[in-house]
Amino acid sequence: MDRKTMLVTGAAGSIGRAICAELARAGHRVIVADVLEANIPPVVDEVDALGGEGVAQPLDVSDPSAVRDAVAALVSRFGAIDGVANNAGVPHVGSIFDTELADLERVLRTNTMGEFFVMKECARHMAERGYGRIVNTASIAGKGFHESRSSVAYAASKGAIIAMTRSASLELGPLGVAVNAVCPGHVRTELYERLLGERGFEVQGPPARTPFRRAAELSEVASVVAFLLSDVAAIVNGQTWNVDGGIVFD
Ligand SMILES: NC(=O)c1ccc[n+]([C@@H]2O[C@H](COP(=O)([O-])OP(=O)(O)OC[C@H]3O[C@@H](n4cnc5c(N)ncnc54)[C@H](O)[C@@H]3O)[C@@H](O)[C@H]2O)c1
Repeated sequence: MDRKTMLVTGAAGSIGRAICAELARAGHRVIVADVLEANIPPVVDEVDALGGEGVAQPLDVSDPSAVRDAVAALVSRFGAIDGVANNAGVPHVGSIFDTELADLERVLRTNTMGEFFVMKECARHMAERGYGRIVNTASIAGKGFHESRSSVAYAASKGAIIAMTRSASLELGPLGVAVNAVCPGHVRTELYERLLGERGFEVQGPPARTPFRRAAELSEVASVVAFLLSDVAAIVNGQTWNVDGGIVFD
């Protein structure tokens, strides 16, 4: 087995936890990083139970100096970070007229700048070794699709991640570092299930109009992230993979 060190941000959330589980099943060391420190230990335990090695890492990705210090400490402790699932993010729903500067700043700070800070610090170390794989989490909301019309700040944050991924792949590729992104569509998170229970058809509606007539399972998003982090995907670079059952074509 080729045990690698993989950093997962937003690791205590729905998709992040599923990514940790997927990487643990492949036997990797998984750095479980999240701003909600109290939610980290169960994920670390799950990684260990699934055959990986879980490591707790409290981390606020929107704080550049915290990201720099954490990445430097992890590299000195484990020798390297081989792959990063740059997954931490916050949602936002609100029309243009209800979106204030503070909303934009909060969403862009965590989603776009947070992923930038993590990518930058990890890439610095990966480039020194000439090896690394980074998978950013964007969204099909960043590509524009009609169901995302009420979240201009979120769409902006995810569109910027797509642009950043493509640009970074050109700069980092020659240094041996691959950069890709996943663009999930509707995903069966706990929040989604709760809204489905509370609001029924209003939430069930959009996935019911997709080709498979359903939202993605968490494991279906996680397995694509794990694939893109693996050397099986060695030649894939600068791509933004839609994991949406066929809502967006590009
Ligand atoms: N759920 C969906 O339908 C969906 C669709 C497309 C894209 N996404 C993206 O997938 C990613 C994960 O979403 P999720 O549904 O699992 O959300 P979630 O809220 O369940 O998990 C997000 C995690 O990120 C953590 N986090 C938030 N801010 C952070 C920060 N500053 N530093 C570190 N960690 C932070 C949270 O504590 C949480 O554990 C996000 O980037 C989200 O935008 C989700």
